[in-house]
Amino acid sequence: MEDGQYFFERGNFAPIAEEHDIGDLPVTGEIPRGLDGTLFRNGPNPQFAPPDPARHHWFLGDGMVHAFTLRDGRARWRNRWVRTDKFRAERAAGHALSVGFGGGRAIGVPDTGLANTSLAWHAGRLLALEEAHLPFALDPATVETLGVEDFGALSGPFTAHPKADPATGELVFFGYSAGGPLSPVMSWGTLSAAGRVTRLEHFPVAFCAMVHDFAVTARHVLFPLMPLTGSLGRAMRGGPPFAWEPELGGQVGLLRRDAGVASLRWFRAESCFAFHVLNAWEDAVGRVLADVMEFAAPPLFPRADGTPSRPEETQAHLTRWTLDPAAGTDAFRRERLDDMTGEFPRLDERRAGLPNRHGVFVGQSPAVRRDLALDTLVWCDLANGGRARFTVPEGDALSEAVFVPRDAAAAEGDGWLLTVAWRGAEKRSEVLVLDTQDVAAGPVATVTLPGRVPHGFHGAWVPGV
Ligand SMILES: [Fe+2]
Repeated sequence: MEDGQYFFERGNFAPIAEEHDIGDLPVTGEIPRGLDGTLFRNGPNPQFAPPDPARHHWFLGDGMVHAFTLRDGRARWRNRWVRTDKFRAERAAGHALSVGFGGGRAIGVPDTGLANTSLAWHAGRLLALEEAHLPFALDPATVETLGVEDFGALSGPFTAHPKADPATGELVFFGYSAGGPLSPVMSWGTLSAAGRVTRLEHFPVAFCAMVHDFAVTARHVLFPLMPLTGSLGRAMRGGPPFAWEPELGGQVGLLRRDAGVASLRWFRAESCFAFHVLNAWEDAVGRVLADVMEFAAPPLFPRADGTPSRPEETQAHLTRWTLDPAAGTDAFRRERLDDMTGEFPRLDERRAGLPNRHGVFVGQSPAVRRDLALDTLVWCDLANGGRARFTVPEGDALSEAVFVPRDAAAAEGDGWLLTVAWRGAEKRSEVLVLDTQDVAAGPVATVTLPGRVPHGFHGAWVPGV
């Protein structure tokens, strides 16, 4: 796939070879004393060049976790590869062994995945997540790998985007291809606040799809089943294992958390795609709403015949989906909330599953149409349509922004946004701290890193660690 080669080699998509542990980093401005914890970030960082670049994909790089600890106004950077079975086998061999989406099974080691997508903190465990396998637990103090975390009972795929319920402390999760590789079966379940598996159910779906994220409200779970299909047969014929088949249309599964799969029903739409959900909630009349970054077609994946989607189709907009279980229809409404294209939506997670006023995504200035470069933090007031934006100069880029409340009693959205900036001219990265009270003013603190943090996916703030 051309994309794979492109992302592997170019600019800040290229991997780094170093594992750092550097304290007392230079800070411009002042790190707020209220920030006491660690921003963990994850992303693909191939240990070795892929043996067959044509079959490589950005998503197939080994997970590398970066930890930025902010405490007493000081900053420290540590980064470690996650020691997956594939990573260890390739390190022992001294070169890459795995090719394409085949996973560890194809190279004779346990197929435990790449742990390269996101991070979650649950039941005292720091989890490095990747959607096709179980999480890896990491030591939050050292970022060293502890091992596969099965919570005593799990074996199947586990999403990179589990949702913590702020009311119950539960973690709600799901998996796709849960009946075997590229099978049309999904699963969902819950972990208690203590990390015990309290529910696990499987259900058939219309087709195997790459379902990257889902939505959880206080009472419901939503599964966006969009036709980025997985097909073993197609892969064995030499086609793409995952491909966009818009003619299949899109579906959103809705189930009640108290009733489980027995209550699952499907809403339908013309094909559209979302990697990521900002939040979802129920309104006063029982409708279920979800704010997602909606694409006309997914980026980074071809159609079934190998042809790419048009660039204008692969730009996402913040879009509100409204599902009305009482309306007597399986249609749902889609309403665009912002004209700026972007990705990586986040919220003040104390409002997860509940009506939320604020959210943030990383936007793309209209003039920028290259390398998926996202250059603008967009802090949204969804109650009144207000926006505050911070844009970095041409050639620079911003990571997903993670929200940290000012203190436990702070109002929704009152706090800081943490993001990693790529400075293209200097070829190094920075950690930026912005105050949500004045995002447009730019960072209140800038931590200068003596190196590069490759463009990655997702992060998590863990207080006190
Ligand atoms: Fe994601």
